[in-house]
Amino acid sequence: MLDVNGFIDLHRERFGARPTLFAAPGRVNLIGEHTDYAEGFVFPAAIDLTTTVGVTPRADGQVVLYSANFEKEARVAPAELPERGIGQWEDYPLGVLAMLRQAGIEVPGFSMSITGNVPLGAGLSSSASIEVATALALLHLSGKTMTGPEIAKLCQKAENEYVGAPVGIMDQFVSACGAEDHALLLDCRSLDYHLAPLPHEVVFVLVNTMVKHAHADGAYKVRRAEVAEGTEVLHGMKPEIRALRDATLEDLERAKGQMPENVYKRCRHIISENTRTTAAAAALDAGNLKEFGRLLVAAHASYRDDFEASCPEADILVELALERPECIGARLTGGGFGGCTLNLVRAEDADAFAVSLQRGYFAKTGIDAEVYRCRASAGAHSL
Ligand code: GLA
Repeated sequence: MLDVNGFIDLHRERFGARPTLFAAPGRVNLIGEHTDYAEGFVFPAAIDLTTTVGVTPRADGQVVLYSANFEKEARVAPAELPERGIGQWEDYPLGVLAMLRQAGIEVPGFSMSITGNVPLGAGLSSSASIEVATALALLHLSGKTMTGPEIAKLCQKAENEYVGAPVGIMDQFVSACGAEDHALLLDCRSLDYHLAPLPHEVVFVLVNTMVKHAHADGAYKVRRAEVAEGTEVLHGMKPEIRALRDATLEDLERAKGQMPENVYKRCRHIISENTRTTAAAAALDAGNLKEFGRLLVAAHASYRDDFEASCPEADILVELALERPECIGARLTGGGFGGCTLNLVRAEDADAFAVSLQRGYFAKTGIDAEVYRCRASAGAHSL
C-alpha cells in the first residue's frame, strides 16, 4: 500500500510544493497473448499494483523527474529533450511528454515524483502504468483532456517511437480504461471494448518466475517479425487478410507450404488464441469458470509449443499449479520469456495455494518466487 502522505511529503521536501497525484495500474492479461498487434482480441484486467506520480508546475520551465524507487533524479531543459530514449528509466515519462508535444499539446515546466509497486520486468506492465500515470499528470498541467483510449494510443506511441519497444496497445489500454472487479475484452482493431464482471470469490495469484524479460530487446521483436512474415504470405494468398485477425486455421493450412515452420507455428498460436480469447470471455459471461480455466490452460500450451514464448521456469510453475485441485486455471501471462504466471483460485484457497507453489518451485529450481495476490482494479485516476 502506498503511504500517500509520505509521498506527498517527499515531493514537497524535494520540490517545495504540494503535488497533485495520479495513479495508473499494472495489468494481468487473462488470455489473448501477442494478439493485440495482430488486430485481434485480448482480455486483460487492471490490478491493484500501481504507479503513482505527484506533479507540480515549475517557474523555470525545466522538467525534473524524481524516481522514489530508484532514488534518482533526471533533469531536462525544455529545448534539450532528447529525440529518442536513452535507455534509462526516465525514457517512459519523457516519451509521453514528447508525444504530447508532437500532438500539439504544450506542457509547462514541471517537477514530478514517481513511485510504484508494479514489479519491473515481471510481465505486469510497469512501463504502461508509468506512461499512463504520466499522461494524466501532464494533461492536468496543460489543462487538456483526452479519453482513455486516446491516452492509451498516445502512451503506446511513446513506447514504440520514443522508448523503442514495438509493443501493441493492450497494456496501455487496460491501464487507462480498466475497472474494479472487471476484466476488459478489447477488440484491438476497432478499440471497442466490453467490461466483463469477474466473480468476486476468485483472485489472481501471480507468481513471479524471477526470470526477467525486456521488450526493447530481442525475443518480442523477433516474434513480431515472424508474425509479420506469416501475415504477408496469407495476404498474398487472400488479399482480404490484412492481419492475422482475418485468417482462419483453414487459411493457414492452405498457406503452410509457403512459409517456414516457425512462422507457421507463430500464426497458428495467434489464430487459435483469438478464438480462445472470445470463447473465454463468453464462458466468463455465462458463469462457466471451469471452461474459462480450461481455455487458460490451452492458451499456455499454445504459447509454449506454438509461439515458443514460455520458459522452463514458467512451465514448471504451471505444471505445479495444475497438480493442485483448487487451481481453476494457470498460464504464463504477458509478453513471454519470463515474468509471472497467472493462477486463478478462490480467495479462501489463495494463501495455501501460493505457499505450495513457492515450495514446489524452490524444490525444482532453487529460486525463491515472489507472489502477488491481486484483484481486478480501477484504471488510471487522480487521487
Ligand atoms: C506485452 C506488450 C503487449 C502485448 C503482450 C503480449 O505486454 O506490451 O502489447 O503484445 O506483450 O500479449
